[in-house]
Amino acid sequence: MRQEAPVHYDEQRKVWDVFGHEDVDRVLTDYELFTSDMVSTEAARFGDDEDHPFFRTMISADPPEHGRLRGFVADRFSPGMIREYRPRIEAVAAEFIDRVADANRIDIVDDFAYPLPVTVIAELLGIPSERRDQFKAWSDTLIARPIEDTKAAVKETQTHRKRAKQEMREYFSTLLDGRADSEDDDLVTLTATTDELTREEKTGFCTLLLLAGNVTTTNLITNAVWCFEEQGVTDAVRTGAVDRTQAIEEVLRYRSPVQALRRTTTDAVEIGGQRIDAGEVITAWIGSANRDSEIFDAAAEFRPERSPNPHIAFGKGIHYCLGASLARIEADIALKALLDQFEVLSLEESEKTPLKSLYGVKELPCRVE
Ligand code: HEM
Repeated sequence: MRQEAPVHYDEQRKVWDVFGHEDVDRVLTDYELFTSDMVSTEAARFGDDEDHPFFRTMISADPPEHGRLRGFVADRFSPGMIREYRPRIEAVAAEFIDRVADANRIDIVDDFAYPLPVTVIAELLGIPSERRDQFKAWSDTLIARPIEDTKAAVKETQTHRKRAKQEMREYFSTLLDGRADSEDDDLVTLTATTDELTREEKTGFCTLLLLAGNVTTTNLITNAVWCFEEQGVTDAVRTGAVDRTQAIEEVLRYRSPVQALRRTTTDAVEIGGQRIDAGEVITAWIGSANRDSEIFDAAAEFRPERSPNPHIAFGKGIHYCLGASLARIEADIALKALLDQFEVLSLEESEKTPLKSLYGVKELPCRVE
């Protein structure tokens, strides 16, 4: 598709698909021409606005609002700040490894790749991680669904989404009220005590953090185990013959956890030889851009030592993933812990997650020794 029709209109979904690296980069970088305001777009198409999980959050805002919504917290996610948190993430990883240390068979997803990021983000937020089953249920309802929903599909899930969104809003409202006078260092307190955000924006921010960082990081860790085993490089990564961080970058490129992002045109534009009117919905396929042979040598091959590796798995431009450093460090720690613990990690058959916007598997059972 990328070669035959790099920019293509899908009649059924009424969406323009953009596949090539250069064009996807342009869509993500030019925020004036390609707005992130997916809330209004969905409202116009499906009559669904306030129930959108990203209502009044940075991910669906354009400048200048975007700068205000991201600025108050950006420092907390800088690479330096996240490095300081490393020992704590290592301790969380060790705790989950301990639980399966004597097992012969584990599910990478359930036993490790899901609980690790959700526990870490819960700690950063300053909320009890015991409710992680509830967090997972909310994430599954609000995030783990195709982004190219048809009208019928959206209607069908609307009731569930409404309820999940409302539950999350109530949960965070209560927490934020309780921290209004707190002097703690957690993110809920930072959010509760800032003057930069309205009340609605505060609950939106907490919701976004809980949703944006979990399924994605779970998929990165799981996809890494999957790629290393499938490509026969697990031992090389374990011994350091292949650099672990470089190999993780290649997983991000080869099996990008987020496959596609949505934008809407604010004006008529020509891209990839196609003229697109104002107000059209664009799906920018970062998963496809990351396999563009114009940019990557042997793009279809997994090369764990690929360098340079200009993938755009964390997006590009002003919306570049706020949690990229955190996700990278979590994946690094998770893989080191798993490979140090188990000499054998042999994949069993597993079902693929039927999602278009996220790339991952529902389970990754492994025989371990
Ligand atoms: C934005 C991917 C982990 C929080 C994004 C975007 C991508 C992305 C592609 C751009 C969205 C857009 O342009 O519309 C990923 C991947 C992850 C990951 C692949 C894991 C492997 C995390 C984590 C957190 C997080 C751990 C938080 C703790 C965010 C936030 C935004 C964002 C808040 C919105 C930034 C903005 O709009 O300025 N992420 N993410 N992400 N991500 Fe991540």
